[in-house]
Amino acid sequence: MKARFPKFDFSSLRAHWAPNQEFAQRANAASLIPAYIEPYLLKVMMQAKKRIDPSKTALHRELDIFIKQEMQHCRQHIAFNKRMHDLGYELLKPVEAEFEATFARFLATKSLRFNLAYSEGFESLSATACVLYFEDYNELLEHADPEPTNMWRWHLAEEFEHRTVCSDVYHELSGLNPVFAYFYRLYGYFYAIVHLGRFQLMVSKKLLDHDRSTMTPAQVKQSVARDKVARKIMGRHFISNFLKICSPFYNPLTRREPKGYREYLTAFEARYDRGPATDLAA
Ligand SMILES: [Fe+2]
Ligand SMILES: [Fe+2]
Repeated sequence: MKARFPKFDFSSLRAHWAPNQEFAQRANAASLIPAYIEPYLLKVMMQAKKRIDPSKTALHRELDIFIKQEMQHCRQHIAFNKRMHDLGYELLKPVEAEFEATFARFLATKSLRFNLAYSEGFESLSATACVLYFEDYNELLEHADPEPTNMWRWHLAEEFEHRTVCSDVYHELSGLNPVFAYFYRLYGYFYAIVHLGRFQLMVSKKLLDHDRSTMTPAQVKQSVARDKVARKIMGRHFISNFLKICSPFYNPLTRREPKGYREYLTAFEARYDRGPATDLAA
């Protein structure tokens, strides 16, 4: 587990960066999530770090890397989302402002236990998304533009890499016995699924409606058909992944590794990782 410092170039990014443009727009809707949830996650983890016994040196070290990784993730998604605004999707701005306010409210009004359970819920979803981007979505990513594809694969590979951190922090600080800790973890997971799932669907609909507003009826029909294909692939393993995470024996450490994710990260470091010095100068 390590922090990597990519510098993607989104200056020529197309909103429809995958052959199935409805899939691209659904991924673009999802890109709003890390831009706002990950800065919140950093704040939750920094609060938690102060409460973790200093003798737990391994967890402190992992938290430090986790924080560095998440900082890079949200930075890249913010740049990506800004390019979407520049491409004419200004309609995202008020949606983003409202989404950002939700996390400020969570920090101001919710308990640390809730914020940790919600964070772990999000992290178990993002480790699952790694499997999607390395296995299930291969057919959707064939002939897709490299920058957004690599942004998502790098991000989600690191999500898989740091999948145990929020879980360890939650179990360290929940203050609950194992049975209650299990049910409260489920509560955080369900909360994250409903909150983030609804948000992504709402944003996807706005983007697709925007695109379809300039299409002919025949093009709209084709768009609906492509979207149906994308949704089928995107939702293919939702139930089985959901049930695995709901198990009382769920342990992020022993999750099956997505095919090729390690090799991808090694290759990524050689091609995209500019190192922290370059990052600071950028
Ligand atoms: Fe992330
Ligand atoms: Fe993460």
